[in-house]
Amino acid sequence: MKKVLLVAAVAISIGSVSVSVQADGAAMYNNLGCVGCHGAGGNSVVPSYPSLAGKDAGWIVKQLKDFQSGARKDATMNAMAPMAAGHEQAIADFLAGN
Ligand code: HEC
Repeated sequence: MKKVLLVAAVAISIGSVSVSVQADGAAMYNNLGCVGCHGAGGNSVVPSYPSLAGKDAGWIVKQLKDFQSGARKDATMNAMAPMAAGHEQAIADFLAGN
């Protein structure tokens, strides 16, 4: 139990250091469930889900818009991308900075 609390405390303190201009992007990324597939901070541990950390922000925004419009087709992302509407840039900036 002590260990669990310690881990939680460390996670919270790391979190508050990285809370910056990209806080909205991080919150959206986590709250929309992107994290469930693409991993913490965009570092995927599942081969079928691409890692997004460190990718170019402009490119990420374009992929999200293309998934929204259907110009890029993937059943999962065509369903997920619309939820990021209005937050594409913030999410992309967060991921690009990881
Ligand atoms: C249920 C799993 C799942 C969730 C949740 C999910 N994605 Fe994806 N995502 C995928 C898969 C699978 C692909 C690869 C699609 C393809 O092959 O074209 C992908 C592709 C992407 C890509 C393009 C990456 C590349 O290398 O081409 C971006 C950007 C992306 N997702 C962002 C997001 C964001 C932002 C969210 C949250 C709003 C999200 N995803 C939620 C499964 C998911």
